[in-house]
Amino acid sequence: WGACRGDLGLGSLQRGSPGWGACKGAGLPGTMRASCVLLAALAVLAAYYVYIPLPGSVSDPWKLMLLDATFRSAQQVSNLIHSLGLSHHLLALNFIIVSFGKKSAHSSARVKVTDTAFDGVEVRPLKRSIVYVHGGGWALASASMSRSPAEIRYYDELCTAMAEELNAVIVSIEYRLVPKVYFPAQIHDVVRATKYFLQPEVLHKYSVDPGRIGISGDSAGGNLAAALGQQFTQDANLKDKLKVQALIYPVLQALDFNTPSYQQNVNTPILPRYVMVKYWVDYFKGNYDFVQAMVVNNHTSLDVEEAVALRARLNWTSLLPPSLTKDYKPVVQTTGNARIVREIPQLLDARSAPLIADQKVLQHLPKTYILTCEHDVLRDDGIMYAKRLESAGVEVTLDHFEDGFHGCMIFTSWPTNFDVGIRTRNSYIKWLDQNL
Ligand SMILES: *[C@@H]1O[C@H](CO)[C@@H](O)[C@H](O)[C@H]1NC(C)=O
Ligand SMILES: *[C@@H]1O[C@H](CO)[C@@H](O)[C@H](O)[C@H]1NC(C)=O
Repeated sequence: WGACRGDLGLGSLQRGSPGWGACKGAGLPGTMRASCVLLAALAVLAAYYVYIPLPGSVSDPWKLMLLDATFRSAQQVSNLIHSLGLSHHLLALNFIIVSFGKKSAHSSARVKVTDTAFDGVEVRPLKRSIVYVHGGGWALASASMSRSPAEIRYYDELCTAMAEELNAVIVSIEYRLVPKVYFPAQIHDVVRATKYFLQPEVLHKYSVDPGRIGISGDSAGGNLAAALGQQFTQDANLKDKLKVQALIYPVLQALDFNTPSYQQNVNTPILPRYVMVKYWVDYFKGNYDFVQAMVVNNHTSLDVEEAVALRARLNWTSLLPPSLTKDYKPVVQTTGNARIVREIPQLLDARSAPLIADQKVLQHLPKTYILTCEHDVLRDDGIMYAKRLESAGVEVTLDHFEDGFHGCMIFTSWPTNFDVGIRTRNSYIKWLDQNL
């Protein structure tokens, strides 16, 4: 504990110990003394559970530890429920998350939230619009702008802030989740909803300027937004419909789980590497037995022919600057497990891994914003995509946060308020304001 105290100031633990001393000294009956010991032991166990070593540069480390411990225990309960055969672990986890994040009655008077089409003719000036795709590993959370029972506050707050500050129409898509549907159903939902919205009569109904529409999303939502962007460039009718794409710590590839950021953040909350790989396997309805092998890149070893050509498109020794690659070494297995991509060919599909798309696809993408966080396994997915887009001639803004962690942008209000949450959100909204 000495070391922990030194690093991060375990002040609360110290304050706890005199209480225990008093307990002991007062000559209490045996049962009470036993419960004191038990309580102290529980406190130590709880501290042990909550404490994880975090780099000093991360935003609000203690709060992040508590948030992570809460999320971790929710995951463990869900895994238990899964192993007892009571429910899919992601259904259980989403149930817990949604119950935790229930929205308070808060709602902004200046923002109109609606589930259905307006009937009347709008006479207001035309507005900008963002189609937003929420994150959550293709399996969790909710669009939250709807009145569905699953509404939770995180995305509601984000979309409300965007609508207010940009005076824009925000369309937050309630796509179907794992385990109800699997890849590529999530993409189909997002594409279908966006196509519907882009019809002239629908845009007219919502007073949206057809020349000022963007696609955006965070994490797995950033993955879906990027996939949608690529699909639109390949469709003559949709080619120039989007003015910008804005991707927040997007998931962009499943071929290399040993990029420098994956190596650096193996155990970083909110998204340790193992958890991310498991989200991928769940997205494809794959076999959990593959997760360990995928962690060491056995699925894309040199003897897996299908992967060889694609690996060059995420060659981080050339795509990332030395300031990020540092002393990290590529993990390339000579022999691995070719069964993995044969059973899960979706792993090598550019619709799931937009980073590996052909340059011919990338070059038609709109102006792009990519936000990345230092304390995030997905940092390098975003930075490599920025680099590949730039090489393809796309105008890219890469907005990197040294104290950011995965998911931080939705944590802006008490008790899960993080300084970097506010800064990332402001920076993102500012870019949209200036570019959409
Ligand atoms: C990776 O593949 C090699 C060669 O097949 C095998 O020996 C090793 O055990 C695998 N590693 C994991 C973690 O599955
Ligand atoms: C990655 O890039 C480096 C440096 O440009 C090069 O030496 C290496 O052969 C490349 N690897 C692959 C798999 O393309």
